[in-house]
Amino acid sequence: MDPIEATKELLRWYVAMGADEAIGEQPIDRLAPARAAPRPPPPAVSPPPPSPAIAAPIAVVPGAASARRLAATATSLAELESAVRGFDGCALKRTATNTVFADGAAGAVLMVIGEAPGADEDRLGRPFVGRSGQLLDRMLAAIGYDRQQNAYITNILFWRPPGNRKPTNDEIAACLPFVWRHMALLRPKAVMMCGGTATAALLGRAEGIMRLRGRWFPLEVEGLDSPVPALATYHPSFLLRSPSRKNEAWRDLLALQSKLKDAQ
Ligand code: URA
Repeated sequence: MDPIEATKELLRWYVAMGADEAIGEQPIDRLAPARAAPRPPPPAVSPPPPSPAIAAPIAVVPGAASARRLAATATSLAELESAVRGFDGCALKRTATNTVFADGAAGAVLMVIGEAPGADEDRLGRPFVGRSGQLLDRMLAAIGYDRQQNAYITNILFWRPPGNRKPTNDEIAACLPFVWRHMALLRPKAVMMCGGTATAALLGRAEGIMRLRGRWFPLEVEGLDSPVPALATYHPSFLLRSPSRKNEAWRDLLALQSKLKDAQ
């Protein structure tokens, strides 16, 4: 194959695999430090314990401490938004185009929490505006909710992970204090946790979404007198890939509708 066509083919493959952005002007030789440093002796003990599947304790993540301080000073959603916009403790901000804070009605009774902005959200600065967002809007409309009136949509992360990769525990831990404060300031009657990342981050549980979906969990939120009921459900982008799961998602939506009706 002609070398230009071969290079184009390789680039198309990278994009198909999700590596759709070049980051940094200079190449980084990630093997250089490993080559330079002497190899440590092998550990004398048995293998380390498995790493937790959920966010590491936030105290050990540098960005998390300043996120907690900043979040605590916000007394309104507008103040929280400017605190998030001014926060530099999450490395994703450096590669993102926009901060994606939230979209929805300030007095909303339903708070929807997804994972992280994708390419469309990063470009427009609003959560859930791409294909999965359009599905989410249709799902909410089916039970009488929308972002103009009674639903409020945000994510665990305010910046897009490059190439839509999975967020790291440190990135989640750096954003989480803002998410909790977000809940305390919005005071929703129910939370819809979309997908495994949002669910694991908020519950601090290691089980996957397949095990947790369809279940309610009381979220203890600092600043609120009573726990907020939160439902674990599939992420709309999973439903786009696996439409046969929509019947379970529909059951979740009906449960959400009935919980909110009881809460009025
Ligand atoms: N997926 C998410 O989790 N959030 C968005 O905002 C968009 C897609």
